[in-house]
Amino acid sequence: MSFLTIAEIYQNSQKLSQLEEIKVQGWVKSIRQSKNISFITLNDGSCLQNLQIVCPLRLVEEIKNVNFGSCLIIKGKLILTPDRAQKIELKAQKIEFINLTGADYPLQKQAIPLEVVRNYPHLRAKTNYFLAVFKLRNRISWAIHQFFQQKGFYYIHTPLITANDTEGAGELFTATTRRDGQYEKDFFRKQAKLTVSGQLQAEALAQGLGKVYTFSPCFRAENSHTTRHLAEFWMIEPEMAFANLNDILNLAEGLLKYVIKEIIKNNSSELEYLEKYHQKELISELKKISELNFPRFTYAESLEILAKNKKNFVYNEIKWGMDLQSEHEKYLCQHFGNIPVFVINYPIELKAFYMKNNSDKKTVACFDLLFPQVGEMIGGSMREDNYQVLIEKAQKIGLDIDNLAWYFDLRKYGYAPSGGFGLGLERLIMFLTSTENIRDVIPFPRYPQHLEY
Ligand code: 4AD
Repeated sequence: MSFLTIAEIYQNSQKLSQLEEIKVQGWVKSIRQSKNISFITLNDGSCLQNLQIVCPLRLVEEIKNVNFGSCLIIKGKLILTPDRAQKIELKAQKIEFINLTGADYPLQKQAIPLEVVRNYPHLRAKTNYFLAVFKLRNRISWAIHQFFQQKGFYYIHTPLITANDTEGAGELFTATTRRDGQYEKDFFRKQAKLTVSGQLQAEALAQGLGKVYTFSPCFRAENSHTTRHLAEFWMIEPEMAFANLNDILNLAEGLLKYVIKEIIKNNSSELEYLEKYHQKELISELKKISELNFPRFTYAESLEILAKNKKNFVYNEIKWGMDLQSEHEKYLCQHFGNIPVFVINYPIELKAFYMKNNSDKKTVACFDLLFPQVGEMIGGSMREDNYQVLIEKAQKIGLDIDNLAWYFDLRKYGYAPSGGFGLGLERLIMFLTSTENIRDVIPFPRYPQHLEY
């Protein structure tokens, strides 16, 4: 007899209740003991629902030492109990103890604050919250692939070890085999870095394949201790040749609405769990967002909106050229009813060298998609297609021109107007699960001073 998962048992309970015996394995979520009968709730990760195990008198003594978290195999008869809250239960006939949890197991209690659980990333998957979040992470990733595949994009892979600093912000980790910093003698005979973005290489591929996307880890050595930054995160970067800025905005909006609809369709139990224990009205809020049009306005217009509320900001000098602070981004979403908004055409000086200059010579054809709670979810742009302008922009911020020669060359060999964006996977999961800290939506978070795993 092979094992059944708890999800299979719930799906086929009628049929399985006719069998003399079924076999299940899992971890103990709770245990209630009394003199004549004991109840164990068991979970195996296949779904959020637990299976109630009823242990008759003869087994009560055997399970005396079983703690929360212990790993068991149970053989028994499935009983339908349609009149009770728990619609099925397994009447245990035999219990095998695979591994019993010691008394020092740190996640004994049911309700432990997330910041405490965060100290045990290797044990977090055993909690309901992380089971829900990681199940959603799985579905969100899958839905992103589905969206692009349906739209004819090719999934491509760009290097993780690179010589380029795409964003030009100098926030790179070095990958080296040397202890003396003599990179000219190193493996690649130059300084190698971990990528901050696959965009430049994706652009090269789009100039032949047309529509491509990456789904890849990115690394940033930003010394940020915020709830929105990681040193290692996952980014989805589509790049589309023969596109204009409107096409890119539509693509971004379409992607996010598609993902929301997919999780509402396929992950109702995870979302209901989060709604019940964590964030009221989560599902109706997500539904609302999946049905509306995201407002689109320029950076200049955003300054006008912010100026009217200026007295309420800490950074209250609202003027051209200022970077939008997170309080400003939040306010812009609130202003439109706490919904996502696109801000387009930022000043040239605020944005990366590769963004295309607009004809006003003041702004670039770019956008940030701002989300309530999370702030910047997506950053994207059209790419500068003028060879000379591009080199000058790179030189102006002191980029290593030699390492970028191949990128400039693209502009000499039939460069089609191209644009794309970067979506931070973890920021998307934060929003969709209403999780406040980005460290709680990635299994093993990397951030300053934390590299235990
Ligand atoms: O705005 P960014 O820096 O854009 C790029 O990297 C472009 N090359 C994308 C492109 O046009 N192909 O980053 C894009 C997104 C941000 O909006 C944010 O969601 C996420 O990546 N992100 C981070 N997420 C977690 N931790 C960090 N340190 C992040 N930095 C950026």
